[in-house]
Amino acid sequence: MALPTQPYKGARDFYPEDKRVQKYMFAVMRHVAESFGYEEYDAPILEPLEIYAAKTGDEIVNEQTYMFTDRGGRQVVIRPEMTPTVSRMVAAKRQELAYPVRWYSIPNLWRYERPQRGRLREHWQLNVDVFGMAGVEAELEVIQLADSIMQAFRAKREMYVIRLNSRKLIDSLMRDYLELDDVQAITMVKLIDRMHKIDHAEFVGQADGIFHPSQREAGATERLMELLKIRSLSELPETVQTHEAIHLLQTLIDRLEKAGITNVTYDPTLMRGFDYYTDVVFEVFDTNPENNRAMFGGGRYDGLVGLFGVEPVPTVGFGMGDVTLANFLETHHLLPELRPEIDVYAIYIGNVTEAASKVVSELREMGLNVAVGDVQSKMEKQIKTAVKKGVRYVLFIGSKELESAQYVLKDLKTGNEETHSLQRLVSIVKDYRQA
Ligand code: HAM
Repeated sequence: MALPTQPYKGARDFYPEDKRVQKYMFAVMRHVAESFGYEEYDAPILEPLEIYAAKTGDEIVNEQTYMFTDRGGRQVVIRPEMTPTVSRMVAAKRQELAYPVRWYSIPNLWRYERPQRGRLREHWQLNVDVFGMAGVEAELEVIQLADSIMQAFRAKREMYVIRLNSRKLIDSLMRDYLELDDVQAITMVKLIDRMHKIDHAEFVGQADGIFHPSQREAGATERLMELLKIRSLSELPETVQTHEAIHLLQTLIDRLEKAGITNVTYDPTLMRGFDYYTDVVFEVFDTNPENNRAMFGGGRYDGLVGLFGVEPVPTVGFGMGDVTLANFLETHHLLPELRPEIDVYAIYIGNVTEAASKVVSELREMGLNVAVGDVQSKMEKQIKTAVKKGVRYVLFIGSKELESAQYVLKDLKTGNEETHSLQRLVSIVKDYRQA
């Protein structure tokens, strides 16, 4: 039986045309992150299970990790997220680092999920985190950076929305307004987190089941449903209006608006599934209903670094996935035409390999990416190959060209053939590449 050619379920092969899209997305991410002064780091893809067990959240740890026992008997996880790793790295150098520490990374992450649109078993995720800033400036900077990435992809404001909430405000609403005890509150938060994934009647039924009969009779479910419809902080109940989290969220919304970021909204249904968030949480959503999953998610997590036995470090950050971003760019027609890496396809005429390869080396030194056709193939076939690869230029090198140092450059798009010196043809090809 022949071996299967498809990749592992829920994981992707990246053929050059797919990798090109990814390279483009990563280049934009890197450029924007570095323009905000963030430095790139990396780490092993394997981590001990314990670093997720404490704060990553039950669903990811118990149901979604790829876990195995290594040959030394240790329980090892293929990282499902980067946040515990980067917190571990900061904790390890807690004393030596210059704060604020601004770091970014683009790791490949693995989660055992049911593959569907926007959700795979592996994805790449830009992680941007700032360590050592306790004030709202940290949230402001990180959300501005996320927004700048969207702008760098030429997204318009109506194409995405930034949703904000606060873990402290959620706690207060659960405890003081809905009068839930700790166990009820945890169950309710998890249910609200899944709200957009289940149907409405099922949601209401499950919410009903969380309240005690006396709470239900007093109209708790209706109060919850009213609460979850709110999209402005001023509409929140009187009892929480003086809460510091409301002031913080309003400050953030006002300051983002002043910076021109007007597509920000308070959303009481935004929970974020991780246990480590301590205050502001946010997500960026595609407004196209076809892509109903978050593109970015993040927030403040002041307690994670401290779990590694050092003084806590206030931290804010986010993760942005490549799968949802690619869906966004495709749906909104924002992907530019991406050209192949090969600038020139060189075709040798006659038995000139030795001298022609010197010319090709020269071209490479002058900065061009040159692929050489297979001399065993007919010229027509070599040209067809260049066309199929999407290369723009073919360069013919024969004894006549070598003697005169003038080469025939064929533009495969227009069909034009022109004769040029090496210098001239290099500048033509470079002009095209930069256009
Ligand atoms: P997250 O919300 O799990 O957060 O992931 C962030 C983003 O990664 C999501 O919005 C989504 O775009 C993408 N993503 C997550 N899981 C998948 C998947 N199975 N398939 C495709 N894309 C996916 C975190 O991971 C946090 N650790 C982010 C963070 C960094 N918080 C603070 N710093």
